[in-house]
Amino acid sequence: MSHTAIDSAFTTPPAASPSLEEFWMPFTGNRAFKRAPRLLVSAKDMHYTAADGRQILDGTAGLWCVNAGHCREPITAAIREQAGVLDYAPPFQLGHPLAFELAQRVAAMLPGDLDHIFFGNSGSEAVDSALKIALAYWQAKGEPRRARFVGRARGYHGVGFGGIAVGGIAANQRQFASQLLPAVDHLPHTHDLARNAFAHGQPAHGAELADALEQLVAKHGADTIAAVIVEPMAGSTGVLIPPVGYLERLRAICDRHGILLIFDEVITGFGRLGAPFAATRFGVQPDMLTMAKGITNATVPMGAVAVRGGIYDTVMNGVASGIELFHGYTYSGHPLAAAAGLATLSLYETEGLFERSRAMEPHLERAVHSLRGARHVIDVRNIGLVGAVELEPRDGAPGARAFETFLKCFEAGVLVRSSGDNIAISPPLIVSEAEIDRIVTVLRDAIQRVE
Ligand SMILES: Cc1ncc(COP(=O)(O)O)c(C=O)c1O
Repeated sequence: MSHTAIDSAFTTPPAASPSLEEFWMPFTGNRAFKRAPRLLVSAKDMHYTAADGRQILDGTAGLWCVNAGHCREPITAAIREQAGVLDYAPPFQLGHPLAFELAQRVAAMLPGDLDHIFFGNSGSEAVDSALKIALAYWQAKGEPRRARFVGRARGYHGVGFGGIAVGGIAANQRQFASQLLPAVDHLPHTHDLARNAFAHGQPAHGAELADALEQLVAKHGADTIAAVIVEPMAGSTGVLIPPVGYLERLRAICDRHGILLIFDEVITGFGRLGAPFAATRFGVQPDMLTMAKGITNATVPMGAVAVRGGIYDTVMNGVASGIELFHGYTYSGHPLAAAAGLATLSLYETEGLFERSRAMEPHLERAVHSLRGARHVIDVRNIGLVGAVELEPRDGAPGARAFETFLKCFEAGVLVRSSGDNIAISPPLIVSEAEIDRIVTVLRDAIQRVE
C-alpha cells in the first residue's frame, strides 16, 4: 500500500449523521430498515432514548440481556476503572485475577457441581464450546464413538456451525445447509396449543415428549450419543415453557444411557425465571450449562460454559501434561468483561433482583393473561419475568402480524419483541408494576389495530 493509499484510508470525513449503507446489520431486513431506521442513542434504567428524542420503555431488556436495567452506575464505573488499569491480558498461558474471581463467583451461583467455567464472548461461542467440550470429554474417557448430538425443534443455540446444527430453526440453516454438522438429531418441540393454550406457568401436558430421546437411543445406540442440548425454556422461538415433568424426564433418560445433558441458559440465566438459573428454578441438574447476556448485564460481550467437576477432571486427566483442551478465544475472560461481570453479580445480589423477578411474576402473569380474548390472540404464556402472546398467523404471511405489532408498539414508545407470530415480553428485572401495565396496555392497543 502506498502512503497515499494509507492516508486516503483515513481521510473519510466524520459525518454528522452516518451513512446507513455500509453496516450489514444482523438478523435484520437491511433494505427495509435503512429506508425507515429505528435508531437508539442512549439508555437509562428502564428506557431507551430514540434518535428523534422519544423515550422507549424497554419491555425486552434489550435482547433478553440487560437484566439490571440500562447504564447502571456500579457496572459502568467498574468498566471505566478497569479500562484504565488493565485493558487486556492474553488468556493463553497467562492470566489476570478478575477472570479467576468471576469464575469462582459464577460457580458459587450454579446448582450442584457445575464448578468449572470456560469463558467466551457470546452465547454462540458458549454453545460451540460446550459441544466441543462434550466431544473432548468422551474422547478422554475412551468412548470416542459418542459423537452424535441431539437438539430440539424450535431450539435456538446461536449462529456458530455447531449452534445452527443442533438448533431447530429451518431459516437459520437454509442458506448454509450444504455444510452442517453431520450427526445431529432433533427431539420434537413441546409447544402444544391444542392441549396447553393459555396455561399459566408450566403447561400440564407434554412430559412424554422427552421419550423421543429413547427412540433415538434405540435407533443409533446410546454409545453413539455425546450430548443432548436444550433451552430449559425456549426463548427465541416464542417462549416455549417446559411442560411439568418434561425436563425431569429428559434428565432421567440421559442418566439411564450415560448421555450428557446441556442446558442452554443464555436467556434463562441470571434471574429471568425468578431464580439464578432455570436449572435452579426447575430443580433439574444439567451436566453443562451455557450462559451469556445477563452475565455482564450486556455491557461487555461475554459468554461462558459451566461444567461439572467430573467432566473437567476427565479432560484434565486425558493427557499426561501440556495443554488439555485445544480451544479458546483471544478474549476469553477479557478484563473489561470480567470487571463488568463482577459488578453485575454484585448488583444482582445487593438489589435482590432475582427475588424481585420472582416477586413480580404474579403481576406480569395477570397482566399478560388479560390479553386473552383480544383480537387475533390464540395463546398467552408466562413464567418468571417472561410473557408471550401468540397471534393467529395472517393467511400467506406468517409472522407479519407480530412484526407489525412490534412496529406499532415501538411507535407508541414500548419495545417488545416479535418472533414468528409471537410477541415476547422480558423486561429488565427492575421493572415496576406500572411499567408492566403500560407495556401490556400499549401491546393490547397495537394488537387491536393490526389488520
Ligand atoms: C438460548 C440461546 N443460546 C445462544 C444464543 C446466542 O447468543 P449470542 O447472540 O450472544 O451469540 C442465544 C441468543 O439469543 C440464545 O437465546
